[in-house]
Amino acid sequence: MLHPVLLCGGSGTRLWPLSRKSFPKQFVRLLSEESLFQSSALRLSGDGFARPLVITGSDYRFIVTEQLQDAGIDPGPVLIEPDARNTAPAILAAAIHLARTDPDALMLVAPSDHVIPDAQAFRSAVQTGVAAAEEGMIVTFGIRPTRAETGYGWLELVGPATEGTTIALKRFVEKPPRDLAETMLAAGNFLWNAGIFLCSARTMLDAFARHAPDFLAPVTAAVDAARVDLGFIRLDPAAWSAVESLSIDYAVMERADNLVAVPFGAGWSDLGGWDAVSAEMRPDGQGNALGGNATAIDCHGTLLRAEDSGVELVGIGLSDILAVATADAVLVAHRSRAQDVKKAVDLLKAKG
Ligand code: GDD
Ligand code: MG
Repeated sequence: MLHPVLLCGGSGTRLWPLSRKSFPKQFVRLLSEESLFQSSALRLSGDGFARPLVITGSDYRFIVTEQLQDAGIDPGPVLIEPDARNTAPAILAAAIHLARTDPDALMLVAPSDHVIPDAQAFRSAVQTGVAAAEEGMIVTFGIRPTRAETGYGWLELVGPATEGTTIALKRFVEKPPRDLAETMLAAGNFLWNAGIFLCSARTMLDAFARHAPDFLAPVTAAVDAARVDLGFIRLDPAAWSAVESLSIDYAVMERADNLVAVPFGAGWSDLGGWDAVSAEMRPDGQGNALGGNATAIDCHGTLLRAEDSGVELVGIGLSDILAVATADAVLVAHRSRAQDVKKAVDLLKAKG
Protein backbone atom coordinates (compact mmCIF):
# COMPACT_ATOMS: atom_id res chain seq x y z
CA MET A 1 0.00 0.00 0.00
CA LEU A 2 1.39 3.43 -0.94
CA HIS A 3 0.57 6.45 1.18
CA PRO A 4 0.28 9.62 -0.90
CA VAL A 5 1.62 12.65 0.99
CA LEU A 6 0.30 15.73 -0.79
CA LEU A 7 2.21 18.94 -0.14
CA CYS A 8 -0.18 21.79 -0.27
CA GLY A 9 1.65 24.97 0.63
CA GLY A 10 2.96 27.83 -1.46
CA SER A 11 0.83 30.56 -2.94
CA GLY A 12 1.92 30.39 -6.60
CA THR A 13 2.21 34.14 -7.14
CA ARG A 14 3.44 33.73 -10.72
CA LEU A 15 -0.06 32.65 -11.75
CA TRP A 16 -1.75 35.80 -10.48
CA PRO A 17 -4.55 36.86 -10.94
CA LEU A 18 -6.05 33.35 -11.02
CA SER A 19 -3.88 32.17 -8.13
CA ARG A 20 -4.53 34.16 -4.96
CA LYS A 21 -3.19 33.93 -1.42
CA SER A 22 -6.61 32.79 -0.23
CA PHE A 23 -7.03 30.40 -3.17
CA PRO A 24 -3.61 29.30 -4.48
CA LYS A 25 -2.94 27.76 -7.84
CA GLN A 26 -3.26 24.12 -6.79
CA PHE A 27 -6.96 24.65 -6.06
CA VAL A 28 -7.71 26.50 -9.32
CA ARG A 29 -9.26 24.71 -12.30
CA LEU A 30 -6.32 25.74 -14.47
CA LEU A 31 -6.35 23.08 -17.15
CA SER A 32 -9.57 21.14 -16.83
CA GLU A 33 -12.68 20.71 -14.71
CA GLU A 34 -10.40 19.28 -12.03
CA SER A 35 -8.10 21.50 -9.99
CA LEU A 36 -4.41 20.61 -9.98
CA PHE A 37 -4.84 19.39 -6.40
CA GLN A 38 -7.73 17.12 -7.41
CA SER A 39 -5.77 15.77 -10.40
CA SER A 40 -2.77 15.09 -8.14
CA ALA A 41 -4.93 13.25 -5.61
CA LEU A 42 -6.73 11.27 -8.32
CA ARG A 43 -3.40 10.33 -9.93
CA LEU A 44 -2.45 8.69 -6.62
CA SER A 45 -5.72 6.96 -5.81
CA GLY A 46 -7.34 3.61 -6.51
CA ASP A 47 -5.78 0.17 -6.27
CA GLY A 48 -2.66 0.06 -4.15
CA PHE A 49 -3.07 3.56 -2.71
CA ALA A 50 -4.11 4.45 0.84
CA ARG A 51 -6.19 7.57 1.51
CA PRO A 52 -4.01 10.65 0.96
CA LEU A 53 -2.31 12.45 3.81
CA VAL A 54 -2.42 16.18 3.10
CA ILE A 55 -0.20 18.73 4.78
CA THR A 56 -1.32 22.30 4.43
CA GLY A 57 -2.01 25.62 6.15
CA SER A 58 -5.05 26.36 8.27
CA ASP A 59 -6.57 28.69 5.64
CA TYR A 60 -6.85 25.85 3.13
CA ARG A 61 -8.18 23.03 5.32
CA PHE A 62 -11.80 23.20 4.18
CA ILE A 63 -10.87 23.68 0.50
CA VAL A 64 -8.76 20.51 0.80
CA THR A 65 -11.50 18.31 2.22
CA GLU A 66 -14.17 19.76 -0.08
CA GLN A 67 -12.07 19.27 -3.21
CA LEU A 68 -11.14 15.71 -2.23
CA GLN A 69 -14.78 14.82 -1.60
CA ASP A 70 -15.85 16.47 -4.88
CA ALA A 71 -13.31 14.28 -6.64
CA GLY A 72 -14.75 11.19 -4.96
CA ILE A 73 -11.73 10.70 -2.70
CA ASP A 74 -12.08 9.89 0.96
CA PRO A 75 -9.71 12.30 2.75
CA GLY A 76 -7.05 10.76 4.96
CA PRO A 77 -5.27 12.67 7.73
CA VAL A 78 -5.00 16.43 7.15
CA LEU A 79 -2.03 17.89 9.04
CA ILE A 80 -2.16 21.64 9.61
CA GLU A 81 1.09 23.61 9.84
CA PRO A 82 0.93 26.60 12.19
CA ASP A 83 2.91 28.40 9.48
CA ALA A 84 4.77 27.41 6.34
CA ARG A 85 8.35 26.32 7.08
CA ASN A 86 9.07 24.84 3.65
CA THR A 87 9.06 21.18 2.69
CA ALA A 88 11.58 19.58 5.10
CA PRO A 89 9.48 19.97 8.27
CA ALA A 90 6.23 19.27 6.39
CA ILE A 91 7.54 15.97 5.03
CA LEU A 92 9.12 15.02 8.34
CA ALA A 93 5.82 15.62 10.18
CA ALA A 94 4.07 13.37 7.66
CA ALA A 95 6.74 10.66 8.11
CA ILE A 96 6.44 10.79 11.90
CA HIS A 97 2.65 10.55 11.66
CA LEU A 98 2.77 7.57 9.29
CA ALA A 99 5.53 5.78 11.23
CA ARG A 100 3.34 5.75 14.34
CA THR A 101 1.03 3.29 12.60
CA ASP A 102 3.58 1.54 10.42
CA PRO A 103 7.27 2.50 10.10
CA ASP A 104 7.50 0.47 6.90
CA ALA A 105 4.65 2.38 5.28
CA LEU A 106 5.78 3.61 1.87
CA MET A 107 5.17 7.32 1.44
CA LEU A 108 4.87 8.95 -1.96
CA VAL A 109 5.53 12.64 -1.39
CA ALA A 110 4.14 14.79 -4.17
CA PRO A 111 3.47 18.45 -4.83
CA SER A 112 -0.16 19.20 -5.55
CA ASP A 113 0.44 21.88 -8.16
CA HIS A 114 2.10 19.99 -11.02
CA VAL A 115 0.63 18.63 -14.19
CA ILE A 116 1.32 15.08 -15.34
CA PRO A 117 -1.09 14.42 -18.20
CA ASP A 118 -0.56 10.63 -18.35
CA ALA A 119 -1.58 9.41 -14.87
CA GLN A 120 -1.25 5.76 -15.86
CA ALA A 121 2.33 6.21 -17.06
CA PHE A 122 3.12 7.97 -13.82
CA ARG A 123 1.65 5.20 -11.68
CA SER A 124 3.73 2.70 -13.58
CA ALA A 125 6.89 4.79 -12.94
CA VAL A 126 5.96 4.74 -9.25
CA GLN A 127 5.62 0.94 -9.36
CA THR A 128 9.11 0.77 -10.87
CA GLY A 129 10.45 2.46 -7.75
CA VAL A 130 8.64 0.37 -5.14
CA ALA A 131 11.23 -2.40 -4.78
CA ALA A 132 14.06 0.10 -4.21
CA ALA A 133 11.94 1.99 -1.66
CA GLU A 134 11.26 -1.28 0.19
CA GLU A 135 15.03 -1.82 0.33
CA GLY A 136 15.59 1.49 2.11
CA MET A 137 16.34 3.76 -0.84
CA ILE A 138 14.84 7.19 -1.51
CA VAL A 139 13.39 7.11 -5.01
CA THR A 140 13.33 10.31 -7.08
CA PHE A 141 11.66 10.81 -10.46
CA GLY A 142 13.74 12.30 -13.25
CA ILE A 143 12.65 14.47 -16.16
CA ARG A 144 14.81 14.92 -19.26
CA PRO A 145 16.10 18.51 -19.07
CA THR A 146 15.45 20.88 -21.97
CA ARG A 147 17.15 24.01 -20.66
CA ALA A 148 19.71 25.14 -18.08
CA GLU A 149 17.00 25.63 -15.43
CA THR A 150 18.32 27.11 -12.19
CA GLY A 151 15.02 26.76 -10.32
CA TYR A 152 15.03 22.94 -10.21
CA GLY A 153 17.02 20.17 -8.61
CA TRP A 154 19.28 18.11 -10.91
CA LEU A 155 19.94 14.38 -10.58
CA GLU A 156 23.30 12.98 -11.71
CA LEU A 157 22.84 9.38 -12.86
CA VAL A 158 25.50 6.68 -12.74
CA GLY A 159 24.17 5.09 -15.92
CA PRO A 160 21.89 5.72 -18.91
CA ALA A 161 18.38 7.09 -18.26
CA THR A 162 16.36 4.02 -19.18
CA GLU A 163 12.65 4.26 -18.43
CA GLY A 164 11.15 1.41 -16.43
CA THR A 165 14.33 1.03 -14.34
CA THR A 166 15.83 2.57 -11.22
CA ILE A 167 19.28 4.10 -11.58
CA ALA A 168 21.56 5.03 -8.70
CA LEU A 169 22.41 8.69 -8.26
CA LYS A 170 25.90 10.08 -8.00
CA ARG A 171 24.59 13.33 -6.58
CA PHE A 172 21.63 15.64 -6.21
CA VAL A 173 22.21 19.32 -6.99
CA GLU A 174 19.48 21.71 -5.86
CA LYS A 175 18.97 25.00 -7.73
CA PRO A 176 22.41 25.25 -9.34
CA PRO A 177 24.00 28.48 -10.50
CA ARG A 178 23.58 29.15 -14.25
CA ASP A 179 27.05 27.99 -15.33
CA LEU A 180 26.72 24.69 -13.48
CA ALA A 181 23.23 24.16 -14.95
CA GLU A 182 24.69 24.67 -18.42
CA THR A 183 27.48 22.18 -17.73
CA MET A 184 24.96 19.60 -16.45
CA LEU A 185 22.70 20.11 -19.47
CA ALA A 186 25.63 19.57 -21.83
CA ALA A 187 26.93 16.55 -19.88
CA GLY A 188 23.84 14.51 -20.76
CA ASN A 189 23.76 12.24 -17.68
CA PHE A 190 21.54 14.54 -15.62
CA LEU A 191 17.78 14.66 -15.18
CA TRP A 192 15.61 17.28 -13.49
CA ASN A 193 14.16 16.33 -10.12
CA ALA A 194 10.36 16.25 -10.44
CA GLY A 195 9.98 17.03 -6.72
CA ILE A 196 8.32 13.66 -6.05
CA PHE A 197 9.87 11.22 -3.58
CA LEU A 198 9.10 7.61 -2.68
CA CYS A 199 10.53 5.90 0.42
CA SER A 200 9.40 4.26 3.65
CA ALA A 201 8.55 6.43 6.63
CA ARG A 202 11.47 4.76 8.43
CA THR A 203 13.91 5.66 5.63
CA MET A 204 12.76 9.29 5.78
CA LEU A 205 13.22 9.41 9.56
CA ASP A 206 16.68 7.81 9.25
CA ALA A 207 17.63 10.34 6.59
CA PHE A 208 16.71 13.20 8.90
CA ALA A 209 18.57 11.57 11.78
CA ARG A 210 21.72 11.38 9.66
CA HIS A 211 21.59 14.56 7.62
CA ALA A 212 19.30 17.05 9.37
CA PRO A 213 18.98 15.91 13.00
CA ASP A 214 18.01 19.35 14.32
CA PHE A 215 14.55 18.97 12.82
CA LEU A 216 13.70 15.81 14.73
CA ALA A 217 13.08 17.13 18.25
CA PRO A 218 10.88 20.15 17.41
CA VAL A 219 8.89 18.43 14.64
CA THR A 220 8.34 15.34 16.83
CA ALA A 221 7.18 17.64 19.64
CA ALA A 222 4.81 19.42 17.24
CA VAL A 223 3.27 16.07 16.22
CA ASP A 224 3.14 14.80 19.84
CA ALA A 225 1.35 17.91 21.07
CA ALA A 226 -0.94 18.19 18.03
CA ARG A 227 -4.56 19.09 18.73
CA VAL A 228 -7.37 17.45 16.82
CA ASP A 229 -9.91 20.04 15.74
CA LEU A 230 -12.93 19.00 13.61
CA GLY A 231 -10.84 16.05 12.50
CA PHE A 232 -7.91 18.22 11.38
CA ILE A 233 -4.56 17.51 13.06
CA ARG A 234 -3.17 20.87 14.14
CA LEU A 235 0.58 20.67 14.78
CA ASP A 236 1.57 22.41 17.98
CA PRO A 237 2.45 26.07 17.30
CA ALA A 238 4.90 26.44 20.21
CA ALA A 239 6.96 23.42 19.15
CA TRP A 240 6.67 24.41 15.47
CA SER A 241 8.07 27.88 16.16
CA ALA A 242 11.46 26.28 16.89
CA VAL A 243 11.56 24.54 13.49
CA GLU A 244 13.94 25.85 10.83
CA SER A 245 12.50 26.75 7.44
CA LEU A 246 14.29 24.67 4.79
CA SER A 247 13.40 22.55 1.78
CA ILE A 248 13.79 18.77 1.78
CA ASP A 249 16.11 19.15 -1.19
CA TYR A 250 18.73 21.04 0.84
CA ALA A 251 18.04 19.36 4.18
CA VAL A 252 18.17 15.76 2.99
CA MET A 253 18.46 15.11 -0.75
CA GLU A 254 21.73 16.95 -1.39
CA ARG A 255 23.33 15.03 1.47
CA ALA A 256 21.84 11.54 1.12
CA ASP A 257 23.78 8.67 -0.44
CA ASN A 258 20.86 6.26 -0.83
CA LEU A 259 19.13 7.97 -3.76
CA VAL A 260 17.94 6.34 -6.96
CA ALA A 261 16.00 7.80 -9.87
CA VAL A 262 13.24 6.48 -12.07
CA PRO A 263 13.36 8.35 -15.39
CA PHE A 264 9.94 9.63 -16.39
CA GLY A 265 9.37 10.72 -19.97
CA ALA A 266 5.59 10.90 -20.31
CA GLY A 267 5.14 14.64 -19.69
CA TRP A 268 5.54 16.75 -16.58
CA SER A 269 5.33 20.48 -15.89
CA ASP A 270 5.45 22.40 -12.64
CA LEU A 271 3.45 25.23 -14.25
CA GLY A 272 5.98 27.77 -13.08
CA GLY A 273 4.31 30.64 -14.93
CA TRP A 274 1.64 31.60 -17.49
CA ASP A 275 3.89 30.62 -20.40
CA ALA A 276 4.11 27.07 -18.99
CA VAL A 277 0.34 26.99 -18.43
CA SER A 278 -0.39 28.07 -21.99
CA ALA A 279 1.87 25.28 -23.30
CA GLU A 280 -0.20 22.73 -21.33
CA MET A 281 -3.49 24.18 -22.66
CA ARG A 282 -2.77 22.63 -26.08
CA PRO A 283 -2.53 25.80 -28.15
CA ASP A 284 -4.10 25.99 -31.64
CA GLY A 285 -2.12 26.03 -34.91
CA GLN A 286 -1.17 29.68 -34.36
CA GLY A 287 0.11 28.92 -30.85
CA ASN A 288 -2.85 30.63 -29.18
CA ALA A 289 -4.26 29.22 -25.95
CA LEU A 290 -7.79 30.38 -25.14
CA GLY A 291 -9.82 29.93 -21.97
CA GLY A 292 -13.40 31.01 -21.23
CA ASN A 293 -14.97 33.83 -23.22
CA ALA A 294 -11.85 34.63 -25.20
CA THR A 295 -11.46 35.21 -28.93
CA ALA A 296 -8.23 35.64 -30.88
CA ILE A 297 -8.22 37.44 -34.25
CA ASP A 298 -4.94 37.32 -36.16
CA CYS A 299 -3.00 36.48 -33.00
CA HIS A 300 0.10 34.32 -32.58
CA GLY A 301 1.57 32.67 -29.51
CA THR A 302 -0.94 34.46 -27.31
CA LEU A 303 -2.73 33.37 -24.13
CA LEU A 304 -6.21 34.80 -23.55
CA ARG A 305 -8.15 33.60 -20.49
CA ALA A 306 -11.35 35.07 -19.12
CA GLU A 307 -13.17 32.23 -17.43
CA ASP A 308 -15.39 32.89 -14.42
CA SER A 309 -15.02 36.64 -14.89
CA GLY A 310 -18.11 37.57 -16.90
CA VAL A 311 -15.64 39.37 -19.17
CA GLU A 312 -15.55 38.97 -22.95
CA LEU A 313 -11.86 39.10 -23.90
CA VAL A 314 -10.84 39.77 -27.51
CA GLY A 315 -7.29 39.99 -28.83
CA ILE A 316 -6.54 41.40 -32.29
CA GLY A 317 -3.18 41.22 -34.03
CA LEU A 318 -1.27 40.20 -30.88
CA SER A 319 1.98 38.25 -30.77
CA ASP A 320 3.39 36.57 -27.67
CA ILE A 321 1.03 38.30 -25.26
CA LEU A 322 -0.37 36.83 -22.03
CA ALA A 323 -3.76 38.25 -20.99
CA VAL A 324 -5.70 36.87 -18.03
CA ALA A 325 -8.91 38.54 -16.85
CA THR A 326 -10.75 37.78 -13.63
CA ALA A 327 -13.68 39.63 -12.08
CA ASP A 328 -11.41 42.06 -10.22
CA ALA A 329 -8.05 42.04 -11.98
CA VAL A 330 -6.55 41.92 -15.47
CA LEU A 331 -3.02 40.89 -16.30
CA VAL A 332 -1.46 41.85 -19.65
CA ALA A 333 2.17 40.91 -20.16
CA HIS A 334 4.64 39.99 -22.84
CA ARG A 335 5.29 36.25 -22.87
CA SER A 336 9.00 36.81 -22.26
CA ARG A 337 8.11 38.52 -18.96
CA ALA A 338 5.97 35.69 -17.55
CA GLN A 339 8.30 35.27 -14.57
CA ASP A 340 7.87 38.92 -13.59
CA VAL A 341 4.23 38.42 -12.61
CA LYS A 342 5.45 37.79 -9.07
CA LYS A 343 6.92 41.32 -9.10
CA ALA A 344 3.44 42.66 -9.83
CA VAL A 345 2.06 40.74 -6.86
CA ASP A 346 4.80 42.14 -4.59
CA LEU A 347 4.02 45.63 -5.85
CA LEU A 348 0.29 45.24 -5.24
CA LYS A 349 0.98 43.85 -1.76
CA ALA A 350 3.14 46.88 -0.95
CA LYS A 351 0.29 49.14 -2.13
CA GLY A 352 -1.93 47.34 0.38
N1 GDD B 1 2.59 21.95 3.19
C1 GDD B 1 3.58 22.67 2.70
N2 GDD B 1 4.25 23.51 3.53
N3 GDD B 1 3.88 22.58 1.39
C2 GDD B 1 4.88 23.33 0.91
C3 GDD B 1 5.61 24.23 1.72
C4 GDD B 1 5.26 24.32 3.12
O1 GDD B 1 5.84 25.07 3.90
N4 GDD B 1 6.52 24.85 0.95
C5 GDD B 1 6.36 24.37 -0.31
N5 GDD B 1 5.36 23.46 -0.33
C6 GDD B 1 4.86 22.69 -1.48
C7 GDD B 1 4.60 23.61 -2.66
O2 GDD B 1 3.22 23.99 -2.68
C8 GDD B 1 4.93 22.72 -3.83
O3 GDD B 1 3.81 21.93 -4.17
C9 GDD B 1 6.01 21.78 -3.30
O4 GDD B 1 5.88 21.82 -1.88
C10 GDD B 1 7.44 22.16 -3.70
O5 GDD B 1 7.72 23.45 -3.20
P1 GDD B 1 8.28 24.60 -4.14
O6 GDD B 1 8.52 25.80 -3.29
O7 GDD B 1 7.40 24.77 -5.34
O8 GDD B 1 9.68 24.00 -4.56
P2 GDD B 1 10.53 24.35 -5.85
O9 GDD B 1 9.68 24.37 -7.06
O10 GDD B 1 11.31 25.59 -5.57
O11 GDD B 1 11.55 23.12 -5.94
C11 GDD B 1 11.15 21.77 -5.79
O12 GDD B 1 10.41 21.33 -6.91
C12 GDD B 1 11.16 21.29 -8.17
C13 GDD B 1 10.24 20.75 -9.26
O13 GDD B 1 9.10 21.52 -9.40
C14 GDD B 1 12.42 20.94 -5.59
O14 GDD B 1 12.08 19.64 -5.17
C15 GDD B 1 13.27 20.90 -6.87
O15 GDD B 1 14.37 20.04 -6.70
C16 GDD B 1 12.40 20.40 -8.02
O16 GDD B 1 13.16 20.39 -9.25
MG1 MG C 1 7.64 24.54 -7.42
